[in-house]
Amino acid sequence: MEDYRPMQTIAHANLKEIVERIAQRMAAATERGKPAAYIPELAKVDVNRFGIAVAPIGGEVIAAGDAEVPFSIQSISKVFTLTLALEKAGDRVWERVGREPSGNPFNSIVQLEYEKGRPRNPFINAGAIAVADILLAGRAPEAAVQDILAFLRDLAGDDSIGIDASVAASEARTGYRNLALANFMRAEGNLEHPVADTVEVYFRHCAIAMTCRQLAKAGRFLAAAGQPDESQAAVVSQLRARRINALMLTCGHYDASGEFAFRVGIPGKSGVGGGILGSIPGIASVAAWCPGLDANGNSVLASKAFEELAQATGWSVFGPVPVPSDRD
Ligand code: DON
Repeated sequence: MEDYRPMQTIAHANLKEIVERIAQRMAAATERGKPAAYIPELAKVDVNRFGIAVAPIGGEVIAAGDAEVPFSIQSISKVFTLTLALEKAGDRVWERVGREPSGNPFNSIVQLEYEKGRPRNPFINAGAIAVADILLAGRAPEAAVQDILAFLRDLAGDDSIGIDASVAASEARTGYRNLALANFMRAEGNLEHPVADTVEVYFRHCAIAMTCRQLAKAGRFLAAAGQPDESQAAVVSQLRARRINALMLTCGHYDASGEFAFRVGIPGKSGVGGGILGSIPGIASVAAWCPGLDANGNSVLASKAFEELAQATGWSVFGPVPVPSDRD
C-alpha cells in the first residue's frame, strides 16, 4: 500500500507550475461542452475561455488563463447567500430548507410538491429562493441585494464586483420555472415576502459577475475554518464553515454531486455560468471557469481542472488521488 499523506500545502513555485499547466491543457482541450442556453445572455459567452485561481490560506493568489475575466457566478452565489442567511437567522434556516442532496436537476419542480414546499437543500433553485426570502426580512429587495454585494466585495477585498444587468434581465424574462417554484412555496407557506420581490433578489444575486481571482478570495473563509486571514475577523464560526463545506460536497453539483465527490473529492459549488468554487479545508480555496457545460449544468473543463488539481496536489478530503489506472 502506498503511504497515506494527509493534505499538504504546496510550495508557491510548484503550485504555480501546476496551475499554469492545467490552464494550458484546458485552453487546448477540444471537448468543451455548451454554454447554458436557457438563459439567453449566457449562451453568448465564448466557450474557449478558461480561468483558474487558487487562494492558499495565508498565501498569495495564484491565477492562470482567463482568471481576471468576470463571468456570471450564477448558483455559486448560493454559497454566499446561505452564509448570510445563517448569520441572520441561525438554525431557523433549517426549518425552511433541508440539508439533503436532491438527486434531481437544480430547477426540478416535482420533489418540491411531494415535500410540501420545503426544498431539499439551499443549493437547488427552490432552496436558494427560500434563502433569498430569509435575506429579505426587514429589508427592501434592493437593500437585500446590496447586502449580498457588500459581503462579496468585502470578502474579495474588491469594490468593483457588481451585477451584470443584462444577465439579470435575461433571467427575469425567462425565469418561469423559478417563478413556479416560488409561487408553489408561497402557496405552502414557505415564502414570507411577495414572490416578485423574492425572485428579484434571487435573479440578481445569480447575475453577479466575478473573476476567478475574486471568487477564490471570497471563498477562502470556507477553507480557513471561517477566518480567511489571521489579520481579519472571522466571517463565520469554525462549525459553520465546516457545515457549509459539507453541504457543498453533498449538494454543490446537484444530481452530479456524487460524481464530483467520486472524481475530485473536494467540496465544490458549481454555477451554470461555468464556474466552480472549491474549498480545500485547511489548505486553499479554488475557482475555475469555462462556460461549456455538461448535461447536468456543470462546467466540463472546470470539473476536469479540479480533477487534475486534486491529482497533482493530493488535495482531496478523501485522501490523495492516485493516477488512474485501468482497474479504476
Ligand atoms: O435560476 C437559475 O436557473 C440560474 N440563475 C442558476 C442556476 C445554476 O447556476 C445552477 N447551476 N448549475
